[in-house]
Amino acid sequence: MVRALSLISAIQSHLAGGGNGRSEKQNPHQKDHTNSSQARTFFVGGNFKMNGSKKSIHEIIERLNNTKLPENVEVVIAPPAPYLQQAVTENKQKTVYVSAQNSFDKASGAYTGEVSVEALKDLGVPYVILGHSERRTINKEDDAFIASKTKFALDQGLKVILCIGETLEEKQANITLDVVKRQLQAVVDVVSDWTNIVVAYEPVWAIGTGLAATPSDAQDVHKQIRDFLATVIGKDQAEKVRILYGGSVNGKNAVEFRDKADVDGFLVGGASLKPEFVDIINSRN
Ligand code: PGA
Repeated sequence: MVRALSLISAIQSHLAGGGNGRSEKQNPHQKDHTNSSQARTFFVGGNFKMNGSKKSIHEIIERLNNTKLPENVEVVIAPPAPYLQQAVTENKQKTVYVSAQNSFDKASGAYTGEVSVEALKDLGVPYVILGHSERRTINKEDDAFIASKTKFALDQGLKVILCIGETLEEKQANITLDVVKRQLQAVVDVVSDWTNIVVAYEPVWAIGTGLAATPSDAQDVHKQIRDFLATVIGKDQAEKVRILYGGSVNGKNAVEFRDKADVDGFLVGGASLKPEFVDIINSRN
């Protein structure tokens, strides 16, 4: 009896990740969410954008390393490319993964300044953010190019955080859904397996403005995105795709999204550089 109990406790401890001292990565697609209405693992991404130094990135990662993070939340941090190696090396958390902020759609060659998928894999970086509105607008990346980069990254084994979202003018013209469907359709045209795609709905007017979408507006759009995906990639796949909300998420407002069934996490910019990032990670628990 005592042996049986200690065996059970050893198994529980192993499942909780504390059993053997090894830091084995959890499978990012593992269905371990505790809320039964929600089979999708909650996801919180931190997009550092073009911010940080060796020192500040070290501090952010140390803060995460020294925090007891929930086991049922997948956390992804995306430092600028020059700090990816540092992030991979310094991260000790088994539920934290590193992401690039961009990658190119060619394997290698004369593409000055581009980031190759092979190089990311070589560094041990499993994720890349593609289609961020800042790259769509400032770098003039169009839907077809983003789709091509998405396909290339997926084909080489990376996971993609695919950003979509409407501008203020598009929202005011009531064409939010047309815009996000067009952005998604470009990827649907070239990618049939969406297992390794996380969609981030980020209304451009909410990014960096302090003016987040209301939880119910976000839920509304997320639901329609999922319904659209069901028509183009099938209901089964659409049910499994995580749809994140992004745009002025912070340590205070994140909890307000907690009962929104189609909000499967957040992509966080500014607040991911601050201690409140941990509050966002904890917002569902
Ligand atoms: P923000 O950025 O949280 O600073 O609004 C979000 C993003 O661009 O991903």
